[in-house]
Amino acid sequence: MKLGSYGMDKPVFMAPLAGVTDKAFRQIVRQLGGKYMYTEMISDKALIFHNPKTIKMLDLKEEEEPRIVQLFGSEPRIMGEAAKIAQNCGATVIDINMGCPTPKIVKNGEGAALLKNIQSAVEIASNVVKAVDVPVSVKMRLGWDRGNIVAVELGRRLEEAGVVMLTLHARTREQYYAGEADWEWIAKLKEKVKIPVIGNGDICSPQDAAKMISNTGCDGVMIGRGVMGNPWIIERTAIFLKDHFSKQEPGNQERLEVLRRHFALLLKYKGERIGVNEMRKHAVWYTKGIRHSARFRDQIMKSETSRDMVQVMERIFSEQE
Ligand SMILES: Cc1cc2nc3c(=O)[nH]c(=O)nc-3n(C[C@H](O)[C@H](O)[C@H](O)COP(=O)(O)O)c2cc1C
Repeated sequence: MKLGSYGMDKPVFMAPLAGVTDKAFRQIVRQLGGKYMYTEMISDKALIFHNPKTIKMLDLKEEEEPRIVQLFGSEPRIMGEAAKIAQNCGATVIDINMGCPTPKIVKNGEGAALLKNIQSAVEIASNVVKAVDVPVSVKMRLGWDRGNIVAVELGRRLEEAGVVMLTLHARTREQYYAGEADWEWIAKLKEKVKIPVIGNGDICSPQDAAKMISNTGCDGVMIGRGVMGNPWIIERTAIFLKDHFSKQEPGNQERLEVLRRHFALLLKYKGERIGVNEMRKHAVWYTKGIRHSARFRDQIMKSETSRDMVQVMERIFSEQE
């Protein structure tokens, strides 16, 4: 398949995850062999008003292509302006969020709210396509609720508007993250559009990804929650899809090493206070399921300094020997 000028064979995308897929994490996934990563979702309005925190989210320096920046918003003109800013900051693909279910987003007509207003969704896409020279993709859900599934119709309209790739998270807004993703809709969308379709929802292993591709015919897959604490999954899945080979899971030594590297990058980009604060959740995810992890959870959450955090991480892994 192609995404603009990028040729890809059964690509495995790391999903946009707000609060997770920041520069530090993208770098870690890249070091471990991942190729296709999204930024966290970025507000169009905050970008055009040059909100310093938001501008920082667009730091794409030294990142390899494709640099996929996801934007969310509700107004076609502002989305177009924001897309230009993102392109100027180095984005080589712009993705539009039509799936975020959280009340604070949908109450502004953004994210999954666009599924209730196809005309507006298409106008936004069309404006963004016109505003930038780079390819534009869309990530969406099935529809607002079971009674209002719009993915196929919306997908076709977005294709007409010049969108070059669609990712479908096969749940409704009403479902949030509960229940099973309904992969059948990925197959239905794939049948009705010519542009590549990326399937998303409930891929927790390389085997799940292979199953989604064979069940739906989708061109590639996207992994969200499965990457939290497990940045290895992107490359392991890509290898499995290509060669049907199951690369070994990382051992404890490697886990600790990657965890430390990840933490060092967080400190570098966000400083001590925010770095330590954000590392807490990552450290809990990285150590989930390992021996005594529940006991250490409390210590991780109480770590106040980078020294405390490193000590706790070392203690956890030394107990695994
Ligand atoms: C913590 C968290 C943050 C998310 N942030 C975003 C986001 O910024 N943009 C987006 O399109 N989807 C976001 N999502 C949805 C995921 O990208 C993905 O579609 C969803 O988790 C389903 O895939 P999965 O079953 O592989 O997790 C988020 C999900 C989670 C759990």
